[in-house]
Amino acid sequence: MTRPTILGTGSYLPKRILTNRDLEKMVDTSDEWITTRTGIKSRRIATKGEETSRIAAAAGKDALKMAGLTPDEIDLIIVGTMTPEMAMPSCACFVQQELGAVNAFALDVNAACSGFVYGLDTADKYLRCKPDMKALIIGTENLSARVNWKDRDTCVLFGDGAGACVLATSDNNDSGILASRLFSDGRLSDLLMLDSAPSMNPDLNFQTKNNNKTEIGSEQGPYIRMKGKDVFKFAVRAMSGAVSELLATVDMTVADIDLLIPHQANIRILKGLADRLNIPFEKIFINLNKYGNTSAASVPIALDEANREGRLKKGDLLVLCAMGGGFTWGTTIIRW
Ligand code: ACO
Repeated sequence: MTRPTILGTGSYLPKRILTNRDLEKMVDTSDEWITTRTGIKSRRIATKGEETSRIAAAAGKDALKMAGLTPDEIDLIIVGTMTPEMAMPSCACFVQQELGAVNAFALDVNAACSGFVYGLDTADKYLRCKPDMKALIIGTENLSARVNWKDRDTCVLFGDGAGACVLATSDNNDSGILASRLFSDGRLSDLLMLDSAPSMNPDLNFQTKNNNKTEIGSEQGPYIRMKGKDVFKFAVRAMSGAVSELLATVDMTVADIDLLIPHQANIRILKGLADRLNIPFEKIFINLNKYGNTSAASVPIALDEANREGRLKKGDLLVLCAMGGGFTWGTTIIRW
């Protein structure tokens, strides 16, 4: 059976580095607190010229180069992001323009930190219907623009960046996407939010479940807000449950996994994931210490690093998983 296969990966990390020591000068925090509670030591901050679509296009270019394809050979561009420059045009259309991918159609997917896994699954389904298609899937974020730099609960967690992969159907019977599955639960929406005031109609009198108080984004600032402990617990349960269930559908177990690339939110979430799945911690790829939580970009940046570091050998079983606001979560099983 021919399957959609990853032909190339790429990433772009903004040049500016913001360390925990730098944050100590901005809010009441410490390198020790951030390191022990999150595992994060530094993050990248986008500056002028490193807008969401620009860094996405740079990551995409990198992935195309590895895949040996030119932009005009791409039929579909999917960009996972919750921080596009504009509501319209989509980030994916800006990426298309920047790359000159004139033969593609382009769309954004907003599934917060699950954006790349959602995009990959969507492209996988397209390619299974039309095997001659080639897709570019990107996760990209400029979270530094949407973080409240006075809120120590959130500002220490996030960073900017972009990662990408090229997907095409391969004749190699063994490699490719074996299975994937996505989930959402909108009932948990108020646990993790990024306000988008300009397009919210005040007449809707939007209410949060918890305090029944009207909360319009513009009064709160267009910032990320979250209930950290609830997110933490759900992330561990959701990602571990999704991975074990999906493995069972392809008659595999956790013992078959060679490398697990999860969303890079917090080292303690990843330890909880390892415990629940009973997988050796060395089999989990981690780079959140360098980049923090880059939301939709975290899985493809990690995938590209793992690939370029030689952590993925032909025939390896690779599992991706992510969880984010919405709530959304999902997982993909790939034979490399
Ligand atoms: N520096 C110093 N102290 C801090 C900081 C900070 N940056 N932030 C919070 N604190 C304080 C709190 O005010 C609190 O003080 P108090 O005891 O006097 O009230 C104390 O530290 C402990 O706070 P907790 O909220 O109990 O800390 P916790 O151990 O839960 O860690 C954290 C907080 C890191 C946010 C954790 O809940 C977490 O990682 N949650 C997951 C959230 C996440 O990753 N979100 C990203 C988006 S979702 C996703 O990607 C899956």
